[in-house]
Amino acid sequence: MQFKTSLALFTIAATALAKTILLSNDDGWASTNIRATYYQLKSAGHDVYLVAPVSQRSGWGGEFDEPTSPTLDTDGEFGYVKAGAPSWGHEIDDDHIWYVNGTPASSVAFALKYVFPYYFAEKGENITVDLVVAGPNEGTNMSPGFFTASGTMGATYNAVYRGYPAISFSGSNSNNSFFKDSLDLEDKLEPSTIYANLVVEMVNQLFESQGENTRTLPLGVGLNVNFPAVGYLNETCNSPQWVYTRLTGEYAGGADMYYNETSNSFVWKPSTMSALSVCYNGDCSLPSENLILGYTDCATSVSAFSIDYDVTLGMSNEVTSLLQPLFSS
Ligand SMILES: *[C@@H]1O[C@H](CO)[C@@H](O)[C@H](O)[C@H]1NC(C)=O
Ligand SMILES: *[C@@H]1O[C@H](CO)[C@@H](O)[C@H](O)[C@H]1NC(C)=O
Ligand SMILES: *[C@@H]1O[C@H](CO)[C@@H](O)[C@H](O)[C@H]1NC(C)=O
Ligand SMILES: *[C@@H]1O[C@H](CO)[C@@H](O)[C@H](O)[C@H]1NC(C)=O
Repeated sequence: MQFKTSLALFTIAATALAKTILLSNDDGWASTNIRATYYQLKSAGHDVYLVAPVSQRSGWGGEFDEPTSPTLDTDGEFGYVKAGAPSWGHEIDDDHIWYVNGTPASSVAFALKYVFPYYFAEKGENITVDLVVAGPNEGTNMSPGFFTASGTMGATYNAVYRGYPAISFSGSNSNNSFFKDSLDLEDKLEPSTIYANLVVEMVNQLFESQGENTRTLPLGVGLNVNFPAVGYLNETCNSPQWVYTRLTGEYAGGADMYYNETSNSFVWKPSTMSALSVCYNGDCSLPSENLILGYTDCATSVSAFSIDYDVTLGMSNEVTSLLQPLFSS
């Protein structure tokens, strides 16, 4: 009797938390991190829709494109979908897992403008998304220097533009791995599995705090989360602490290149950049993401961003005064 009561209570709690999550990324629908996250969010009771690019679209930022032909001209990532196949489709045995020949940002649109209102509506299902999750990216995305370059972030801010609460997750496992090679939800040291469980922990915390409110994060706000090396990448770090951070600050950097005179060629290498340490908005006492990931033991950075890219009032006045003759003529 005791057992039956607690089981019933558990079922109610799980149902109350069940939310609809749209999951995307830039490393492609067949990469390990996104598949691990799909299954763990689903196991936690959520209704999850994985909709992501058919190919590797890292570094595409917020670029937005649509499939221009009904079929693929080249193989998708890992040759999982072959050239000649339709430009969009789902796993044969799971119509909650979709690919599209598009960017991360346009994958979000493809889900909202095709998968839900056409495919699922035809099946009589009316889907309302509670949260958009992107990633976990293969490789970290710290500071505005990478925020603007990352396709995973592109999917995230595109979702925020549309009014959805959205979170971008990035891992320190940068190998572009195929889920058929690396997915192992039973392996407690597999980084993609550890990250997926951390995604569930954060997402469930947000939903719990949301309670009866209609939305979780404020309108126009998203989160950028970066995970440290865990599991096989660092066996002494399996449950990193959560640290609240800011996007700009110490050690923040962006993509850069160096010219090699001997080989007359260029090498891609990130570097720190002066303007990335400014603090115009938010809590300037917070540590930067780069400080937490690069110089703190076993910690995850959590930054909140808004898509109000306008300057502060003081700066706005400074700029208007510079251009005053133009505006008053
Ligand atoms: C789908 O659900 C939303 C929210 O519950 C509702 O506003 C909308 O009218 C519904 N659409 C259809 C076609 O039933
Ligand atoms: C990286 O990913 C590829 C593709 O899944 C896999 O074949 C390879 O073994 C991985 N390498 C490492 C070092 O994990
Ligand atoms: C592994 O994690 C520990 C803390 O858990 C940290 O002290 C150490 O520097 C990390 N090693 C690497 C190579 O990142
Ligand atoms: C520049 O290129 C040369 C020739 O390929 C190579 O030996 C050298 O290591 C490169 N230098 C740097 C700093 O990468």
